[in-house]
Amino acid sequence: MTMDRYGRLIDYLRVSVTDRCNLRCIYCMPEEGVQLCSHDEILRYEEIVAVVRAAAELGISKIRLTGGEPLVRLGIVDLVRELAAVPGIEDLAMTTNGTLLARYAADLAEAGLRRVNISLDTLQPARFRAITRRGDLRDTLAGIDAANSAGLTPVKINTVVMRGVNDDEVVSLASKTVTDGWNLRFIEWMPVGGDALVHDDWRERVVTAAEIRVRVEAELGPLVPARDLVGAGPARTFRLADAGTAAGTLGFISAISEHFCDSCNRLRLTANGKLRPCLLSDYEIDLLDALRGSPETGKLQDLIRQAIQAKPQGHRLARGQRAQARVMAQIGG
Ligand code: 5AD
Ligand code: SF4
Repeated sequence: MTMDRYGRLIDYLRVSVTDRCNLRCIYCMPEEGVQLCSHDEILRYEEIVAVVRAAAELGISKIRLTGGEPLVRLGIVDLVRELAAVPGIEDLAMTTNGTLLARYAADLAEAGLRRVNISLDTLQPARFRAITRRGDLRDTLAGIDAANSAGLTPVKINTVVMRGVNDDEVVSLASKTVTDGWNLRFIEWMPVGGDALVHDDWRERVVTAAEIRVRVEAELGPLVPARDLVGAGPARTFRLADAGTAAGTLGFISAISEHFCDSCNRLRLTANGKLRPCLLSDYEIDLLDALRGSPETGKLQDLIRQAIQAKPQGHRLARGQRAQARVMAQIGG
C-alpha cells in the first residue's frame, strides 16, 4: 500500500469516464453545459484500464466510476467488465444520476459492478426539473428500483442540501430511510468551480450537517450511530432510533463544517487523464503523455506516486479557499 506524506493510506481511485451529462444540475454545471473535452483528449477505455492496473499494483483496491454521468459514455458495461477483472481491485462502484439505470443496472451487475450511489436532491417532480434543469424524477426513481433489483447494493442516495433550494425537504427525505429502506446521505453543498450558486455570499447556501440533524431529530426522533455501510467513505452514518431494524441509514458528508481530510484515502482521475490529488485543489498531474504511444507501467506508477505525495494535508474551504478551474462535472464529485 502507498502512504502519503501525512500517513494516510491511499487505496481508492475515483475515475471520471466522461465530462458529459444528460442533466445540468444547478450546483454542478452552467445551464449551457461546460466546454467539453474533444474525443481525442478523453482517455480511451484501454488507457483507463492501464491506469487502474498500474494503480492496483501500488495498492489501490477500490474504484468508483463517475462522470459527468458515467452511463452516457458508450460501452461503459465493457469497461466495467475489464476493470472488475483487474487483479487487486476488490470493490468497483459507480456514482450516477440514475436516469439511465433502469436500462443498464442488470448488465452492470452482471459485468461485475458491485454497487451504485445515486444522486437525488428532491422528491418533488417540478423541483427535480428545476434543480437538474432537464431531468424527470420518475427516471431516477425507476433507476433506484432497478439498482436494488439488480443487487447493486447497498444503494446509497446522495442528496446535496442547499439553503432555499431543497433544505425544506430534509425531513421527508430522511423519512425514506424508514418507509422505503433508503440509505441516504446528506451532502453539504460545496462551492466548487463555476457553479451557478457560488456568489460572494456562498456561505449562506451551506446548511451544515449539524443543522440538518437538528431538524431531522425534531420531527423524527433521535438518530443513533449505525454501523458504517460498505464504502461509507467520509460519511458519518446513523439510523433513526424509533425505526425498525429494516430501516435504512442516514449519513452526513460535511466537507465544510468538519474536516474529513485526516482520513482521506483517494485520488481522482479526470476524463482527460489528469490525476487530481484533492477535490478542492486545482493541482493536477497529467497522465496523457505517459499513456499515449507505448505506455510504460513504471512511468505511470511514478506519476501516480507523485500525485499521492502531492496530496495536501487538508483544504481551507472554511476559511474561504476555493478550487475554481473546473466545475464538478469535470472532476467527478
Ligand atoms: N457540492 C456538493 N456535492 C456536489 N455534487 C456535485 N456538485 C456538488 C457540490 N457543489 C455531488 C453530486 C453527486 C456527486 C458526484 O457530487 O450530487 O452526488
Ligand atoms: Fe450531471 Fe451529476 Fe452534475 Fe447533475 S450533478 S449535472 S447529474 S454530473
